[in-house]
Amino acid sequence: MANGHHWDPRWPEPAFPGADTFEGTQLHAHSYVDNSIFAGKDVVVLGMGNSAMDIAVESSYVAANTYLAARKGAWIIPKYVFGKPVDQLPNNPRIPFAIRQRMIHQTIKTLTGPPERYGLPKPDHKFGEAHPTVSGRILDRIAHGTIAPKPNIASLQGERVRFGDGSEVHADVVVYCTGYKISFPFFDADFLAAPDNHIELFRRVFHPQIAGLYFIGLLQPLGAIMPLAEAQSAWIGDYLRGEYALPSPAELQRDIAADQAAMRKRYIASKRHTIQVDFDDYIYALDTERRGGAERARTRGFAVPIRARASIAGA
Ligand SMILES: NC(=O)c1ccc[n+]([C@@H]2O[C@H](COP(=O)([O-])OP(=O)(O)OC[C@H]3O[C@@H](n4cnc5c(N)ncnc54)[C@H](OP(=O)(O)O)[C@@H]3O)[C@@H](O)[C@H]2O)c1
Repeated sequence: MANGHHWDPRWPEPAFPGADTFEGTQLHAHSYVDNSIFAGKDVVVLGMGNSAMDIAVESSYVAANTYLAARKGAWIIPKYVFGKPVDQLPNNPRIPFAIRQRMIHQTIKTLTGPPERYGLPKPDHKFGEAHPTVSGRILDRIAHGTIAPKPNIASLQGERVRFGDGSEVHADVVVYCTGYKISFPFFDADFLAAPDNHIELFRRVFHPQIAGLYFIGLLQPLGAIMPLAEAQSAWIGDYLRGEYALPSPAELQRDIAADQAAMRKRYIASKRHTIQVDFDDYIYALDTERRGGAERARTRGFAVPIRARASIAGA
């Protein structure tokens, strides 16, 4: 399974009052192509994730007015720090996360200051407890007066949008940058589903109950996804060749439960935070698991799993 998790748009749930009779255009970030649709218009962008940052910035160059609405604050991370892409800063998985978190937070705070100084909402969580919002330009565009921060949308009426603080603006376009659903439309929901983006897999790859179903790229890394997908593919390859053996079903369940508990502890509760991984930590843990599973396979005589044998014979 490698069907991705950023293609099925999540619209605001429930829809805002008046959304069905709003006279302007409403679109989800997923169908955004370029900023020509904003030329000369009044635009409201909703969200504080990376889509909202990029789309608000692009709108700010051509729109008459751009408003950035958010129900929650975010720590905004510049794209480059000390002349390096931010995800290439030293991040040793052997150093406890809390220490790494404090060091990176201090660096960001020194560079940009708190978001509320730009008129954005104050984050209600510590740095690192939400999927990072990375933008090199949003603060600059706000500082230049080309984007006006607003609280969450409260309702839509005719051509107007009302916000949580009671203020109202004229709007031609509302862009919902409200994230995505994990979905598997080709499976019956009672076979496999991810309600509210929850899906329990062993290290994001092996389904604990459904043998022969492996997932690639169903994870949200802090860092690039491609090397992780490659590492997962190699791991599945080991398994299919009989060179890796899974832990016992009870151990799988324990590992999944521990992983879920760690994610709940680390991240604020949100449908955005159900498949998070840290790039370096994930690679390190996967490597350790592959070696442990190779040893298990050796003691079991390198048996190729029955499911894999069946599919190879079928092919
Ligand atoms: N340049 C880039 O690298 C780039 C650009 C775009 C996207 N991406 C990636 O693509 C993925 C998706 O990003 P995304 O920004 O589209 O989605 P996202 O990260 O899931 O963010 C969704 C945002 O919408 C808010 N939201 C959701 N429902 C809402 C509601 N009903 N009312 C008000 N606010 C609501 C969320 O707030 P809460 O936090 O309160 O839930 C959050 O701020 C991420 O992995 C992101 O890093 C990367």
